[in-house]
Amino acid sequence: EKARFTLDPAFTIGEVNPRLFGSFVEHLGRCVYTGIFEPDHPTADAAGLRGDVLDLVRELGVTAVRYPGGNFVSGYKWEDSVGPAEQRPRRLDLAWRSTETNRFGLSEYIAFLRRIGPQAEPMMAVNLGTRGVAEAVELLEYANHPSGTALSDLRAAHGDKDPFGIRLWCLGNEMDGPWQTGHKTAREYGRVAAETARAMRQIDPSVELVACGSSSQAMPTFAEWEATVLEETYELVDHVSLHAYYWPTDGDLDSFLASAVDMESFIENVVATCDHVGARLKSKKRINLSFDEWNVWYLPEWEARAASAPLDWPEAPRLLEDNYSVLDAVVFGSLLIALLRHADRVAVACLAQLVNVIAPIMTEPGGPAWRQTTFFPFAQAARHGRGRVLDVRVDSPTYVTGKYGEADLLHATAVRAEDGSVTVLAVNRGRTEPLPLEVDLGTLGVTGLVEHSVLSDADPDARNTLDDPERVAPHAAAGTVLRDGRLSAVLEPLSWNMIRLA
Ligand code: AHR
Repeated sequence: EKARFTLDPAFTIGEVNPRLFGSFVEHLGRCVYTGIFEPDHPTADAAGLRGDVLDLVRELGVTAVRYPGGNFVSGYKWEDSVGPAEQRPRRLDLAWRSTETNRFGLSEYIAFLRRIGPQAEPMMAVNLGTRGVAEAVELLEYANHPSGTALSDLRAAHGDKDPFGIRLWCLGNEMDGPWQTGHKTAREYGRVAAETARAMRQIDPSVELVACGSSSQAMPTFAEWEATVLEETYELVDHVSLHAYYWPTDGDLDSFLASAVDMESFIENVVATCDHVGARLKSKKRINLSFDEWNVWYLPEWEARAASAPLDWPEAPRLLEDNYSVLDAVVFGSLLIALLRHADRVAVACLAQLVNVIAPIMTEPGGPAWRQTTFFPFAQAARHGRGRVLDVRVDSPTYVTGKYGEADLLHATAVRAEDGSVTVLAVNRGRTEPLPLEVDLGTLGVTGLVEHSVLSDADPDARNTLDDPERVAPHAAAGTVLRDGRLSAVLEPLSWNMIRLA
């Protein structure tokens, strides 16, 4: 049985915001220390940034980089992270039970983004867990005010004469989660977020603000949380956040492969909630979505390990260093497809995280850096998934999952660039059978196949590791044909596919 869909340039979803290919650097484990920052590393520059990691980050194509947390931000004192590095205090990081040296801070983060290149944009979070309005506006003054005030002059005295120009700000992190330091009820958080937003806009009206939504669709407060928070903040913020991580439960790989079913329903439910509040408030404004943490994460394994970990406050310990298989990368690719399929409302998305911590890039202290399997779908989508998302309605054979009932074997999207070229991104969720695909290209006007690149493996458990860092990489698919306005391809079992047409 074949899977099919039709592409028509007249039927589109929306423009891809480059921020959809954002990522996340948290002070957690080795994301910062021995990840992006390792002054003694042979490839490090004068600022201590690892050159090998910077090269991979550029190749990955990330845009907005969220910082400094995550759960870490709820104990973050930004003042600790600026000024002469040798004078910065060592602090207990309650979120990850680690010692934070503050050797890497705000200025180093901005330097890191500048080294990535012009596509990189800061996305800074303020602490609304243990702190509040005053500290948030002080941080904003330090970061963005040109000069002539105590905090902007302090920044200049610290060596950063030019303001950082941070536009995108998160108002706290996962404030709905009982694990969050300074966790709040929706009403408590909504009030402090509103007042923080109001004050931040008084300093810099150009800031774009993200209010915390739910930590996952499974939270008991989901939807009610968003509705209450937005009631308080609707006219003061631009985006509401979503976070979602996926892992297989009890070895149920069929449901795991259909994780994007949950992600798409999560997005649609948050859109509905935002618009419901907007309607109730009789507002013309539309709130967009910032899916600022998403990934495959073997969370229960981490929780089990954390529960028995000693309270010895290590520096940059190995935490959340998941090693991703080909199967994980197929699920990951499907999550990316889900984001693109909702490009009309998902304005920002951050892959959590960037290096070492549930990351597409891994490093060894003093040693090499390499690409995980998940690196490839992200890099391909970030490079070629730019333009207008076409409305893809698949007619696909299905399979039965324990969690989501019947699910399509094919999950797909397509993006049309300004020059008329088209990139189809597609996943075959089937574990054993190849999936024939036929795409009617209608009046798209594309005539040539540029490439069909596929990530799959005879061993779906194959991974890249320190010892074998290039075990898995995409390869060219055989037999794909574009003839008489029709694309025919066969998608290998458990595969991520990128098909480019021009
Ligand atoms: O990305 C890892 C953690 O997951 C983040 O710190 C937190 O926001 C989420 O629970």
